[in-house]
Amino acid sequence: MTIHNKKTLWMIAGGEMQIPTAHCIKRKGYNLIISDKNPRAPCRKYADKFFCIDIVDLEKSKSIEKYFKNKISGIFTIASDAHYTANYFAKKNKLHHTKLNISKICKDKNLTRKFLKGKLSQPKNYLISSYEDYIKKLKNFDKGYALKQLNLSGSKGFYEFKSNHKLSKKQFSKILNFNLKNKKILIEEKLLPKRNTLSEMSAETIWQDGKIIYFNCVDRIFPRDTMAYKNLPKSLYNDYKAGFEIGHINPSLKSKNEILKIKRIMLKLGNLLGYNKMKKCHILKADIFFSEKGPIILEMTPRLSGGYDSTGSAIIRGIKLSEAIIKISQGGRFKKKELKYYFKDNNKKALVISKYIENKRLFYIAFGKKKINNLFKDIKLKIKKNILLKNEKYFI
Ligand SMILES: Nc1ncnc2c1ncn2[C@@H]1O[C@H](COP(=O)(O)OP(=O)(O)O)[C@@H](O)[C@H]1O
Ligand SMILES: [Mg+2]
Repeated sequence: MTIHNKKTLWMIAGGEMQIPTAHCIKRKGYNLIISDKNPRAPCRKYADKFFCIDIVDLEKSKSIEKYFKNKISGIFTIASDAHYTANYFAKKNKLHHTKLNISKICKDKNLTRKFLKGKLSQPKNYLISSYEDYIKKLKNFDKGYALKQLNLSGSKGFYEFKSNHKLSKKQFSKILNFNLKNKKILIEEKLLPKRNTLSEMSAETIWQDGKIIYFNCVDRIFPRDTMAYKNLPKSLYNDYKAGFEIGHINPSLKSKNEILKIKRIMLKLGNLLGYNKMKKCHILKADIFFSEKGPIILEMTPRLSGGYDSTGSAIIRGIKLSEAIIKISQGGRFKKKELKYYFKDNNKKALVISKYIENKRLFYIAFGKKKINNLFKDIKLKIKKNILLKNEKYFI
């Protein structure tokens, strides 16, 4: 790769979810370095230099740093769990980053629960490391429970059970030993969703010099949500594993009042983590479960949702999160008059639905200013005719 005088950004993870951002970076004329362990990473074609390295492997990623010494002006990740890697190398190279301690708390489900305990509503949970622990703790969950790996995402490490379902030692050990690095898992109260509402939300915020400047909520659709049963083909939710997201609606359909409550939670969360004292721009996203007892933070993370989730559907809404991350990663700030350009929406709604076919995730989209029922009708038709969301068409 020839390093021109152009600026160089290192994006960690180059899967399908990162395509809109990779594309945007190239369109803006930057050099783009991508690291991803998949040699056929979908973003590879956009990269000036591609490194086939696991996104959470700090040791191996050092070779990238060496190769580009002093030539990188921003390091970030979007829609991936590699925020610790991004912040670690950004810090080491004296580039803008969010505190490593925040990444540390956010990437470990146990540390997240410990941090939030007594501050914001949390499901009852225990860290367990043996079958004996499991049997002992089981008694505390009379309405069902979940077992979770500490740092596996994408629902790969999530299992839910009825309260009377006791695993055999063999079954339990399989889950416990899935990630040999940890050998510890969380046993957690199974949350029951509030009725007649989409049960989860992703709330994204960007903070500049301690103040929230961007706030948006996206409804996440899960097989448990009755809205899915009413509006979507059965094939989409019938065989889904618990905890698998079917799609999302951007922006959220929840009432203004409900959204205000979530904004207050995000403000409190940001203050607890110290976002109110941080200079320049920092991202905070949380996944929120609407339980019978009120909203509960399931996860929090210092990076943008990205992909078709928010960055993708946000493009349709006129919001420029990929451009924003380019600026943020280089330590930039948004001037007052720029806020409208980056973050003002055009009143459109987007409904994105995904479907797994032989381990490949396909996406369908419907969008416009129409009522949500009409978007569901549109998307049903697209699913029937297999009209897929093609990145380039929407994101270029
Ligand atoms: N305690 C819980 N009760 C009910 N559902 C849960 C609970 N924890 C997680 N889930 C479901 O599983 C999904 C994945 O869990 P999460 O903790 O977000 O892990 P990850 O996204 O890293 O796989 C959530 O989005 C949610 O739908
Ligand atoms: Mg999650």
